[in-house]
Amino acid sequence: VNNKVNLQEQVRKLKEQKNAVILAHYYQEPEIQEVADFIGDSLELAKKAAQTTADIIVFAGVHFMAETAKILNPSKKVLLPDLKAGCSLADSCPPDAFRKLKEKYPDHAVVTYINCSAEIKTLSDIVCTSSNAERIINSIPKEKPIIFAPDKNLGRYLMEKTGRKMLLWDGACIVHEAFSLDKLLEVYKQHPSAMIIAHPESEDHILKVANYVGSTSGMLHYVKSSEHDTFIVATEAGILYQMQKDVPHKTLIPAPAKEDNTCACSECAFMKMNTLQKLYNCLKNEDPEIILEKELMEKAHKPIKKMMELS
Ligand code: 13P
Ligand code: SF4
Repeated sequence: VNNKVNLQEQVRKLKEQKNAVILAHYYQEPEIQEVADFIGDSLELAKKAAQTTADIIVFAGVHFMAETAKILNPSKKVLLPDLKAGCSLADSCPPDAFRKLKEKYPDHAVVTYINCSAEIKTLSDIVCTSSNAERIINSIPKEKPIIFAPDKNLGRYLMEKTGRKMLLWDGACIVHEAFSLDKLLEVYKQHPSAMIIAHPESEDHILKVANYVGSTSGMLHYVKSSEHDTFIVATEAGILYQMQKDVPHKTLIPAPAKEDNTCACSECAFMKMNTLQKLYNCLKNEDPEIILEKELMEKAHKPIKKMMELS
């Protein structure tokens, strides 16, 4: 504990000295969330990154998020505590293969989920996050066919919500695909008054039994404003820290994963690569830094900017 408090103190001091801002995703460890200036979902964090006047942005999240922050605010130094903090969704969509698909369907509009690399963003017409995806899809003229990448689960969910047919890339989030429907229903049997809430990256059969489907912030808002008092939560377990703070008297049950793992729920190993120690080191050494070529940033900025204008 002492080491933690000490490190947190050092981080706060360095932040002040260097005029740095720490942006953290809800999936980060509580000890990181505690030192963050702002905690949010991917859209909220992108907005904060675009607006900040700090000299340094320390992004406590995964690589594509830090990359997006750099693209949105290129004059800032953007640091990521561990450059290996990737994302299975981003990894599932290599640019060469995606370029080939795009060439095969030149008349299609390309909508990409923000969970992809900067290079994939350069091949996109517009980007979306889980909290604005429906609006973004609805902004595409009805007659225009759509390629949606890389998340097939979010894509399928959006097809149902919007009634649009879309060509889906075959990517998925390893964390949200790990939930077991059988185990979830067993838990539900024991808590029949519980509301099941799920992130749209979850598989179709999980979304079908969910009372509410939404982004990280959407779920937090739903739990806060709902009159119900028990929730089974099908998303990354890191969200429970903020959620329980918001509703201390409500019961929150993490949706069980297919395989038993240490926490019997789903954690994103990529998100958890960032530790308080690594956060301190990166702020102190101003390294690792996100470095991107100017041309790549300019091209990738266009579809992100379009999204921001609609959000
Ligand atoms: P949101 O933060 O948009 O809910 O996305 C969740 C996620 O998986 C981030 O990687
Ligand atoms: Fe990527 Fe899934 Fe981790 Fe989010 S939770 S960063 S989508 S692997």
